[in-house]
Formats: sequence, C-alpha cells, structure tokens
Amino acid sequence: MVKRTSMDTKLSVKLGKLNLKNPVILASGTCGFGKEMEGLIDINKLGAIVTKTITLDKREGNPPPRVVETPGGLLNSIGLDNDGLKNFLFEKIPYLEKLKMPVIVSIAGNDIREFKKLAKELSAIPCVNAIEVNLSCPNIIHKNAKFSLPAQDTKAVGKIISGVRKMTTRTLFAKLSPNVTDIKEIAKAAEGAGADAVSLINTYPGMLVDIKTMKPRLGGVTGGLSGPCIKPLALKCVRDATGAVKIPVVGMGGIMCADDAIEFILCGASAIQVGTANFVNPRAGLEILEGIGKYLGRNKMKNIKSLIGKLKVEG
Ligand SMILES: Cc1cc2nc3c(=O)[nH]c(=O)nc-3n(C[C@H](O)[C@H](O)[C@H](O)COP(=O)(O)O)c2cc1C
Repeated sequence: MVKRTSMDTKLSVKLGKLNLKNPVILASGTCGFGKEMEGLIDINKLGAIVTKTITLDKREGNPPPRVVETPGGLLNSIGLDNDGLKNFLFEKIPYLEKLKMPVIVSIAGNDIREFKKLAKELSAIPCVNAIEVNLSCPNIIHKNAKFSLPAQDTKAVGKIISGVRKMTTRTLFAKLSPNVTDIKEIAKAAEGAGADAVSLINTYPGMLVDIKTMKPRLGGVTGGLSGPCIKPLALKCVRDATGAVKIPVVGMGGIMCADDAIEFILCGASAIQVGTANFVNPRAGLEILEGIGKYLGRNKMKNIKSLIGKLKVEG
C-alpha cells in the first residue's frame, strides 16, 4: 500500500480512469521497463511510468551510433529496438506487477492489426493500467495504404486509435509527434477516435554530421531531437492541443526541472513526462515532484488543479 500524505492529495490527477498520486510520469524510452531505475530512485513515489515502446515481434532497431549529444539536447535513433510482446510478458511483467503506481505500456505496430493485437493481449494483464499508443512509428500499412508517420495524418490517427479503443477498456493515451502542420487537428482526431488523453510531444526529426569523416553522426542517419532545446516548441504544441481538446493533455519535451514542469502545467498540461532528464539525473523526476509541491506551497495553492492551464495572457 502507498502511504498517502497531504502532499499526495493536493498533487493527485485523474487521466481517463487512471488515478495518479501526482502528475510526474517517466517518459517512454527513458526509463526502460522500470527495473532499470531500481537502485537509482524509488520510482513508486512518482505518478506513473511509461515503458519503452514494445512491438508484437522483436525488433533489432537501428545501427549504432544511436545516441549523440548536441548543445541543449540529445539526438537518438534507437529504431524501436525491443524484444517483442512475448518477451515483455515473461521478462518484464513480473517486475512491473510489483510496482505500487500505474504502469502505462507504450505500443507500436507495423499495421493496425498489430496495434489491436498488442492492445488486446496487454489488456488481459492486470498490472497494465493504461496503454500509450506511439503514433510516431514509420511506414504503417493499412489496407494497402502506407502512412509515412501515422501521427502526421488525422485519418491514420483516427483509424489506429479507434482500432485500439475497440480492444481495450484501459485508459488510452495517444502519443503525438510535433512534426505536423497543425497539432490541434491531430489531437482532435485522437480524441474523436476514443483516446482518453493525448501525450505530447515525441522528438523532433533532426541530424548531425561529422565533418572529419563527412558521415552522419547517427548510424540511422536521422533521428529524434529531445531535451531542453525543444522545450519552447513543446510548450507551444501543448498549449495549442489543450485549447483544441477536452481530454487531458500530458506534456513533455525538455523538462529538466520543476520550473520547466510548471510551465507545461500553466500551459494546460494535466500531467507531465520526464524523458531526456533521466539520462542526466535519474533523480530528476523526484526533484521535479518536490519542486512542484514547493511552488504550490509558495503560491498558497492547495491543489495542483489550481495551476493547470492558468497561464495569464493579457488582452
Ligand atoms: C533515447 C530515447 C528513446 C526514446 N524512446 C521512445 C520510445 O520508445 N517511445 C516513445 O514513444 N518515445 C520515445 N522517446 C521520446 C520521449 O518519450 C519523449 O517524448 C521525448 O524525448 C521528448 O521529451 P524529453 O525532451 O523530456 O526527452 C525516446 C526519447 C529518447 C531520448
């Protein structure tokens, strides 16, 4: 049992059917399957974790190097490397089911059938409290039509989310890409198809070049940019999305400290995810949680809800 404190009460948030004791979630791909954080922090103090994205079958991922640092950020091209659903069920679930906070499993598929199968099988596992659909996986095939990136196409988002929705009653998050013309339309498509919340943003596409070798710095040539350098872009996406949908928005992108998280909450995020910061400081999530509590105290706010979306815009 998690001991409840007065701090828990004022920080608790509800996302779909999910009750989080606080709004701090570790982001997909940056905390493994929870066990990787063992010995570094007590993850049970956090609101929830999102696992690394899993696929139906094992994927080798992209060639190395897979991660490169850049001023103010990280460029990665992991390529959804994972051991597949069966391995997840046998190897990862035994640890995840011991956790005392919600587990959100991130999924991706090559086609809609795979997304649906993953959602169906995972929904039979009691400790899988929610599913986050990673819509930023390339080359999805649906009825012979190829969607380059589902998160960039309202039709693809609608089809995948409604397909998954039919397979699960668990809380459903749609994870969106910032690399779109209008994030509002994509968020609305996810909401219309039955998502309980939208999580944004995933990484921005980018690349780096080694001028000595004249080769790309990443084995996969291009990758996804994350970290502090994307925070202003992410905040804009979160504010746009919260203005467009009624479902909760979970904000992320360059959150390194409590002040960053508070910016996202002011822009309307009901909860936040911490990603790249985990690689710099594994305690970042806990420090952010503590900092949010202190900020509320300093501003004489009894409840996190008093802060959500309270950005003051003149005129
Ligand atoms: C090394 C690395 C691996 C990631 N893997 C995944 C993944 O498997 N699934 C996913 O949805 N997002 C993945 N992401 C994206 C993060 O979850 C997050 O959306 C993004 O990095 C922006 O947040 P940040 O700036 O706090 O890292 C990954 C990010 C990094 C840096």
